[in-house]
Amino acid sequence: MVFLNGEFIEKNQAHISVMDRGFLFGDGVYEVIPVYNNKIFRLNKHLLRLQTSLDSVKIKNPYNSKEWGDILSKLLGFYNNQEQSIYLQISRGVSDKRKHSFNDLTPTVYIESSPLLTKTKQALQAGFAAITQPDIRWHRCDIKSTSLLVNVMYSQQAKEKNVEEVILHRDNQVTEGATSNVFIIKNGMLFTHPTSIHILSGITRDLVLESAKACHIPIKETSFSMSKLNTADELWISSSTREIMPITQVDGKLINCGNIGNVWGCVYDYYQSLKNA
Ligand code: PDD
Repeated sequence: MVFLNGEFIEKNQAHISVMDRGFLFGDGVYEVIPVYNNKIFRLNKHLLRLQTSLDSVKIKNPYNSKEWGDILSKLLGFYNNQEQSIYLQISRGVSDKRKHSFNDLTPTVYIESSPLLTKTKQALQAGFAAITQPDIRWHRCDIKSTSLLVNVMYSQQAKEKNVEEVILHRDNQVTEGATSNVFIIKNGMLFTHPTSIHILSGITRDLVLESAKACHIPIKETSFSMSKLNTADELWISSSTREIMPITQVDGKLINCGNIGNVWGCVYDYYQSLKNA
């Protein structure tokens, strides 16, 4: 079952107009929200970010927080899996003419949920590979927009090269991943790009910082260079679907001789405890 514009229907019955601006222009925003033990994880933070994205592109939020909560709970009632990943998209709606500028429209709301397949700690400890690419995206990466062509092209490159992620850099500074935030540990200190127009402020990013604090790791929300990335003691990526994933190889070169390092384990364990709290 999926949710489309006020109705719970079978996915194969869910249709939208070809004049939907989400289809014509990628004119919409979205959220991906994890569900653990049948509980929606950090819903309020996702709804706040959704509101920020909607405000940035001048789409009216069709529901208040209570209504969103009720809709998502009802949708989850149709699924048995305790661990889910909710995909929620709001496009500007359907117009009668294809024109870049817009009038007031009724937003199209689509929500689906699918099993969230998180990797075990043991599987994560194997480490993952990444490649790097220039960050050629626009200067509003803080908006969780459905216009994702650069992210799509880079993610396809990662797939073709059989690596986990593409790490992006702008002016020689690491920004984030094509679908994740990026962290390094250097001399016992955690570095990650500050929230700005050049990264998406990840909900998991906040939780990584909260977990690092609990592990008494000093945190520097400052950008770091590509050479610092290559000589990092640890490198991780984070997202709602991947949680916190150690990267041990970048562009074919090993990070920390291919070892995971000590800090990741503490941060990972604390994050798991937040999920189960
Ligand atoms: N993407 N940066 C980018 C560019 C992302 O696409 C994502 C997540 C993140 C991490 O955000 P969060 O921790 O809130 O999931 C950072 C989601 C999972 C996606 O597009 O499917």
